[in-house]
Amino acid sequence: MPWEYSEKVLQLFKDAVRGDAGTHMGEIENPDGFGEHGAMVCGDALRFTFRVKQHPTDPTLDVITQARYLTFGCTSAIAASEALCSLIEEGAKTPIEALRITNQDLIDFLGGLPEQKIHCSVMGAEALQAAVLDWSRKRGVDLTKVLPRLAEKQDEGRIVCKCFSVSEPYLRRQIRELNLHSIAEITNALKAGGGCGACHHAPGGLQDLLNECWGTAPLASVEDLGIDADTQEAERLSPYRLGRKIETVLEGVVRPLLRQEGGDIELIDIKGNLVYCRLTGACAECHGAGQTLRLLVEQHLKEQVDEQLRVIAV
Ligand code: FES
Repeated sequence: MPWEYSEKVLQLFKDAVRGDAGTHMGEIENPDGFGEHGAMVCGDALRFTFRVKQHPTDPTLDVITQARYLTFGCTSAIAASEALCSLIEEGAKTPIEALRITNQDLIDFLGGLPEQKIHCSVMGAEALQAAVLDWSRKRGVDLTKVLPRLAEKQDEGRIVCKCFSVSEPYLRRQIRELNLHSIAEITNALKAGGGCGACHHAPGGLQDLLNECWGTAPLASVEDLGIDADTQEAERLSPYRLGRKIETVLEGVVRPLLRQEGGDIELIDIKGNLVYCRLTGACAECHGAGQTLRLLVEQHLKEQVDEQLRVIAV
């Protein structure tokens, strides 16, 4: 898919890859602050380093004089990293002041980013935070006094999205800080959920975390929809009743989930235990479409209609 980049993004990218004067791609030797975010296996990684002019008596007044980055990423990752370094250097900021640069500041500096590329700006802000933490340890600055939220940041814990190694504490923090309200927004900002999709609606997965954070009401259960909860034990249904039950589950349970991701599903045919379905919209183009049919659609139909059903992609 061709991305719609702003002129600024394209210019920063071209300048950086040419190594023009004033650009910031590279790494500072023996830096005062060193931070990384992302991972090569996930397709995006950023290393951020900076040098400070040390204040003789008060390290909180150290000023960042040089900022550099190395990134394994796309056009917007490079442009967002350039934006971050420019904002820091031009503002002659202290490391603590630099932390006030938000991913929205980077997006504004760049004249906007495609929604699906917002994670590039988040990656820069995260790498900066890691670098400032490193600087604070080296300079003996107690961040609990000035920035308790950052000092207490604990992002290790249960991995929710295995495709991108994203932990539960990190997701909880970012859902609130970045005001994320849907799985699509989480994926755009953090990449979590952008692979196989298994973490979307698994117990303790992305939707559960969203519901917990924002107090969203759980999706309608089969019982709410008037479907007999004991269907696994039920005698085989007539083709008419089977079709009605499958449609009811698709309409009441599956479609709301798919529509949250910009997709939908069509029931094409039912032959015996085989349910022929077609994903549409965003779900049709997703490389995890097969997993969606098997782990989401088929699983719901097995649990709520008949455990012998199999979903076939059309
Ligand atoms: S586990 Fe999250 S996208 Fe695969």
